[in-house]
Amino acid sequence: MSKGDVLACMVIAGGQWGDEGKGKIVAYLALTDKPRIIARAGVGPNAGHTVYYRGQKFGLRQVPCGFVYEGARLLIGPGVLVDPRVVLEEVEITGVADRFGVDGRCTVIEPSHIEQDRASEHLKGKIGTTGTGCGPANAARVNRMAKLAAEVAELKRFLADVPREVNNSLRKEETVLIEGSQGFLLSLIYGTYPYVTSKDTTASTLAADIGVGPTKIDDVLLVFKSYVSRVGAGPFPTEITQERAEELDIVEFGTVTGRRRRIGMFDFDFAKRAVMINGATQLAITCVDKLFKGALGTRRWDKLPDDAQEFLNKIELELETPVTIISTGPGIDDVIDLRSKKM
Ligand code: GTP
Ligand code: IMP
Ligand code: MG
Repeated sequence: MSKGDVLACMVIAGGQWGDEGKGKIVAYLALTDKPRIIARAGVGPNAGHTVYYRGQKFGLRQVPCGFVYEGARLLIGPGVLVDPRVVLEEVEITGVADRFGVDGRCTVIEPSHIEQDRASEHLKGKIGTTGTGCGPANAARVNRMAKLAAEVAELKRFLADVPREVNNSLRKEETVLIEGSQGFLLSLIYGTYPYVTSKDTTASTLAADIGVGPTKIDDVLLVFKSYVSRVGAGPFPTEITQERAEELDIVEFGTVTGRRRRIGMFDFDFAKRAVMINGATQLAITCVDKLFKGALGTRRWDKLPDDAQEFLNKIELELETPVTIISTGPGIDDVIDLRSKKM
C-alpha cells in the first residue's frame, strides 16, 4: 500500500473468464476502506456483479457494487458501454440517484445493437455472447457512428466528467476503487480469441476506462475463484464434466443470462500470465468454501482447514504475489483480510 497505510487508487480486475466474485470483493472493500469514489470499468452490461446486502440479492450490470458503502460517489467511466434502460432501473433499485454519475462520453447501447447481437449466428451462436448488444455497440464506436450518453435525455441529470472527478480526488489523496468487470481470459487482446468479449479487460484498460493514467495506480488486486468457471463457448484446458462438478457440489448459473457455467480446476499457467499482464500486486481468492467444506464463513486464517491453507500457500508461491483477501462465503463479511499482515 502507498501513501502511509491508506490505499489510494486500486484497480480490481478478474483473473479468469469473469464471475470470479469481483462484485462481492468490491462491496467488502467499500465497507472496510470507505473510498471517496467507486468507479465502474470494463465492457458494460454484459457483466453481472452479485452482492448480498441487507437480506437482498443484487445482480448489478452497471451501477458499482460498492454502492453498499453510502459515503461513496458512484461513477461509470467513459470507456464503459451504457444501456440507459438498465442504468435507470439499477439506480432506482439501489436508491443511489443523489450520488451517481455517468460520463457523457460513454457509448450508448441501442435496441438495434441488442437485436444484432441476438440475431447473429456468429456472435450468439458460435461465440455464445450474452446478447446484451455490447459487441455491436463497441463496433459502432470504432466506426464512429455510436450515440454518446450526453445525447440521452433520460441520463442528463446524472452526467459527470468522471476523469476530472476521479483525478481531483486522487490529488487530494482520497481513496478510489476501480471496479473492473469480466476477466483476463475474456480480453479481446490477451484472452482465448475469438471466444472473448469485445474489448481488452486487463488492469491497464480498466484504468483507462475511468481516465486514470498508469502512474496514478497504486495497487492491482487480481481476483481468482478457487476453481474456474466459464459461460459461453471456447477452450477450457482444466474443464471437468458436469457430473464431476455436481459431485464437488459446484453448480453455477450466469447472473445476466441464467446459463449454466462450465466448471474446471484452478489453472496455474493461465493464472501466472494473468498476474504478469495485469501487473497484479495482490490476489483475492474467492469461493474457498465451495472447494474446502470446513471453510464456510471463516474470518481467520488459522481457522481454515489445512488443505485450504496448503492450496492458498501454493497459489501465493507459484504466482509470486501475496494472497491478501480470501473469500469464504457469498456474504460481504465472509472474508479473511490479510492486508495488514502482508502489505
Ligand atoms: P463479472 O463482472 O460478471 O465477471 O462478475 P463477478 O466477478 O462480480 O462475479 P459474479 O457475481 O457474477 O459471480 C460470482 C458468484 O459467486 C456470485 O453468485 C457470488 O455471490 C458468489 N460468491 C462470491 N464470492 C463467494 C465465496 O467466497 N463463496 C461463495 N460460496 N460464493 C461466492
Ligand atoms: P459478450 O461480451 O456479450 O460479447 O460475450 C462474449 C463472451 O464473453 C461470452 O463467452 C460471454 O459469456 C463472455 N462474457 C462477457 N461478459 C462476461 C462476464 O461479465 N462474466 C462472464 N462471462 C462474460
Ligand atoms: Mg458475473
